[in-house]
Amino acid sequence: MIDTLFRVTRHDSRRQFLQWLAASPLAAAAQTNSPSPNEPYLLKSPQEAINVLEFEAVAKQKLPPAHFAYMATGVDDDATLRANRAGFDKFKLRPRRLVDVRDLDTKRTLFGSTLECPIIIAPTGNQMAFHPQAELAVAKAAGATKTQMMLSTVTNTKIEDVMRAVASPIWYQLYATQRWEVTEQLVRHAEQAGATVIALTIDTNSGRRTDTLERAKRYDTRQCSACHTPTYGFNRKPMFDGIDTEGLTTGNPGMDWKFVDKLRRFTKVKFILKGLETAEDARLAVDAGVDGLIVSNHGARATETGRGTIECLPEVIEAVEGRMPVLIDGGFRRGTDIFKALALGASAVCVGRPYLWGLASFGQPGVEQVLRLLRTELELIMRQCGTRTLADIKPAHVMRG
Ligand SMILES: Cc1cc2nc3c(=O)[nH]c(=O)nc-3n(C[C@H](O)[C@H](O)[C@H](O)COP(=O)(O)O)c2cc1C
Repeated sequence: MIDTLFRVTRHDSRRQFLQWLAASPLAAAAQTNSPSPNEPYLLKSPQEAINVLEFEAVAKQKLPPAHFAYMATGVDDDATLRANRAGFDKFKLRPRRLVDVRDLDTKRTLFGSTLECPIIIAPTGNQMAFHPQAELAVAKAAGATKTQMMLSTVTNTKIEDVMRAVASPIWYQLYATQRWEVTEQLVRHAEQAGATVIALTIDTNSGRRTDTLERAKRYDTRQCSACHTPTYGFNRKPMFDGIDTEGLTTGNPGMDWKFVDKLRRFTKVKFILKGLETAEDARLAVDAGVDGLIVSNHGARATETGRGTIECLPEVIEAVEGRMPVLIDGGFRRGTDIFKALALGASAVCVGRPYLWGLASFGQPGVEQVLRLLRTELELIMRQCGTRTLADIKPAHVMRG
């Protein structure tokens, strides 16, 4: 009797314990394969990803701390970095119902060519810090997903090799150094390689303070060059092969609108500016006769303005009055972010860190999945808002509030 009682009690408490366990966060963690509910889930394959944000944790786990910090850093206190994301919350969507959206069209014609989708790979340098295949993996992913790629001046891979991998014309981001003859050679080289757009970066001419990166370097003191030799050092990158780069730096604090005019005349392909944030500069850009501009704060890596780029977009669109395409980048992580920018008047959106997370996590397949997820989300929100084409996306689909 006592024995039976004991067995029942033990059985009951075991059942109670199992019930408690099943309801506890520990069980939820076990189901999601996360070591604890507070830690992010680490994807084992790109296909598992629910959204692009999930790649960041994998990149962080796989990369040396200073390499990850180089990617993640903003400037100063990273206030602008946070603002780039928080800015999207200030704009709400106004969906329209009962529209037949079975056949969707995301094509956009820009600078003489038609893009399958208005999502563009933003230029980022030093990709060998994130994956041995570097720009080649990104180029192959761009080719596989038919995504427009913009290539940085400071790549670890030759432009000709990137062109072969992507198998379609790329856009070229230009850092005009302080020596005009170097700028000339960079531009002609990119044009001869087949770049159809030159995007002059104008937001990092006077230096910057990347505190988050500098802090990481205090405890990760490995020589960067050990991971991505032989291209460490700005002026030893492949784009500078055959160019006298003695004493050269990326910035050009003397750059002004006269320089823009000279470069615009020199460039044979489309010429755009990357890194504008104000109506005043947008008007000057129109006057300067450039072919387009990108509202950008360099992924919050240039000036600690405290303003997200999506907040800067309306004043730029208003100033430009439709006279040239306005693109944007900075903090775009969701299809809804992209949709908001398109509704506010942007012609296309560039993304940076998300594809770098994909690259660092899984190489080419990671980049492909990031690009596919963003496009899938954009298509979904287009359908949900009753917009069949990009032209259907109107300012009335978004409101400030
Ligand atoms: C690691 C890294 C390297 C970058 N390198 C360049 C570069 O070489 N040239 C350039 O114009 N912009 C560069 N950028 C800025 C991007 O082109 C783009 O403006 C920015 O990443 C967009 O913001 P997001 O990363 O939040 O999407 C870089 C950004 C990152 C994160």
